[in-house]
Amino acid sequence: MLKLGFLASHTGSNVQAIVEACRTGGLDAEPCVVVSNNSRSGVLEKAREQGIAAYHLSERTHPGGLDEMILATMRRHGVEVVCLAGYMKSLGLRMLAAYGGRILNVHPSLLPKYGGQGMYGLHVHEAVLAGGESESGATIHLVVGAYDEGRVLAQERVPLLSGDTPADLQVRVLAVEHRIYAATLARVARGEIDLG
Ligand code: GRF
Repeated sequence: MLKLGFLASHTGSNVQAIVEACRTGGLDAEPCVVVSNNSRSGVLEKAREQGIAAYHLSERTHPGGLDEMILATMRRHGVEVVCLAGYMKSLGLRMLAAYGGRILNVHPSLLPKYGGQGMYGLHVHEAVLAGGESESGATIHLVVGAYDEGRVLAQERVPLLSGDTPADLQVRVLAVEHRIYAATLARVARGEIDLG
């Protein structure tokens, strides 16, 4: 079974959706460990409630040695594929070298549009609406060094509706994120997407 490790900073609804897909059989994978830079994030609480190992690791807990500690934690739990899910920090060079090509991220827009530094949370949806787009969507992509770059593995469109607020759009895009993240990992687990 494909062993998954997660890095997340917020509520963890994407992590939750993937864990549920593992539990209900839609995804042949094992959620092994959750790491968050935010000690009060909902994602840590949810993981612990479900018996998944969960750690708060940050520059504060491990000054100067965070990258190494995250890598050691992933390795200790046998992680094969790393899933970023609303992780607000960039990964260090050791993690990128060790798991290069096996790190996925979810982004709430149709990349390469509305990606990059500063494009997170509601900012993304505000920018999409201000840009006069007729659609937005969600993207699952491989992680390379730079923000929101790397091969796109899956994308799904979400039409904009008249009167949409950024929060409205966020809700509809998030539901798509949950579905396509689990579905993409299922394709990886079945060998339909080759991560090398
Ligand atoms: C998601 O919209 C994700 O695309 C973005 O941060 C949000 C995380 O939400 N990068 P959650 O913690 O998975 O609920």
